[in-house]
Amino acid sequence: MNHFVSLVAASLILAACAPQPGPPADPASLTPADPRLAELYAGSCKACHVVADSGAPLVHDAKAWAPRWRQGEAVLLDHVVQGYKAMPAMGQCASCTPADFKALTRFMAGKDDQQ
Ligand code: HEC
Repeated sequence: MNHFVSLVAASLILAACAPQPGPPADPASLTPADPRLAELYAGSCKACHVVADSGAPLVHDAKAWAPRWRQGEAVLLDHVVQGYKAMPAMGQCASCTPADFKALTRFMAGKDDQQ
C-alpha cells in the first residue's frame, strides 16, 4: 500500500517536471514570476506569443522553442532587438532593457530556471 502511494507520488512529480511536448493548454494564463517582467510581458510579447495564428512560438511550447533555442541565445536576442520576419524589432517594448529581453525570452522558451 505504502509502496503504491509513493509510486503515485513519484509519477506525479515526474509528470510535473517533464517538458511540455506541445503548446500548453492555456498559454494566456502563464506569466513571469517577477512583477516587472510580468508587466513588460503583458504589455508586449504576450500580444503575439500566446496567439497561435500570429506565427510566434507560443510561450512554454517546448517543441516550437527547441530549434530556435539551438541557434544560441545570442542569435535569439539579436533577433529580438533587430526584429526577425514577423517578429517586430524589440518586440514592441520600448522600455525593455537587454536584460529584460533575455529574461523574457528565457521565460517564453521555458528556460528561466537555468542560468
Ligand atoms: C507583433 C507580434 C509580436 C510581438 C509583440 C512579439 N513577438 Fe516575438 N515573435 C513574433 C513572431 C511572429 C515570431 C516568429 C518569427 C518567425 O520565425 O517567423 C517571433 C519570434 C520570437 C523569437 C524567436 C526568434 C528566433 O530567432 O527564432 C523570440 C526570442 C521572440 N519572438 C521574443 C519576443 C519578446 C521577448 C517579445 C516581447 C518583448 C516579443 N517577442 C514580442 C511576434 C511577436
